[in-house]
Amino acid sequence: MKPLRIALTKGRLEKDTVKLLEAAGFDCTAVREKGRKLILPIGNGDIEVVLAKAADVITYVENGVCDLGVVGKDTIMENGRSFYEILDLGFGKCRFALAGKEGTDFFSGYDARTIATKYPNVTRNFFENKGMDIRVIKIEGSVELAPLLGLADAIVDIVETGSTLKENGLVIIEDNVAPISARLIANSASLKLRKAEIEDLADKMETERKKMQ
Ligand code: PRP
Repeated sequence: MKPLRIALTKGRLEKDTVKLLEAAGFDCTAVREKGRKLILPIGNGDIEVVLAKAADVITYVENGVCDLGVVGKDTIMENGRSFYEILDLGFGKCRFALAGKEGTDFFSGYDARTIATKYPNVTRNFFENKGMDIRVIKIEGSVELAPLLGLADAIVDIVETGSTLKENGLVIIEDNVAPISARLIANSASLKLRKAEIEDLADKMETERKKMQ
């Protein structure tokens, strides 16, 4: 049988997932010594790790070329379409926040505000719920720059420690949007066809996650 494929979001979530998989007894030497390789076997080769950008993890899982994926809830909220979210992995914890320059009153006045973000859908939903008309500008990274440069009145972004905001003179206006952490997602057909293998891996990951918390 072909190996079970799990797509990991490259970077921090990849590292935390590898730690969890190693704690669960899978040999992840190939991932640790990957160089520039993007598809790597783990354990006895029954599982293959695929390294991808966050939104692409969802695309590969949705299209069934990967059975499982590890991706942040932020990416799921922005892109989520049709797959199953089967486990909260407990790491990669952060939250969405609306933030702006210190000393400015974001909610005063009637002009439509301009919001810079990597998450246009999450941002539109957030302001729709408030009944506020806004303009969204999509930024690809370091969104904090946009209000500093005068491109936007505020940003919607993920905040973990808050130090990026602080060091750039920005403050949280609201951060009760949604709690975020890494999730294990599964392709819906794989979940039926490879149920036992997926459940076995998810159970092992959940056991280790509980021990680590
Ligand atoms: C994220 C986010 C913030 C920062 C928040 O950026 O977009 O900039 O982390 O973390 P903090 O609250 O602990 O300071 P990331 O590092 O993913 O880089 P990017 O902005 O270039 O995408």
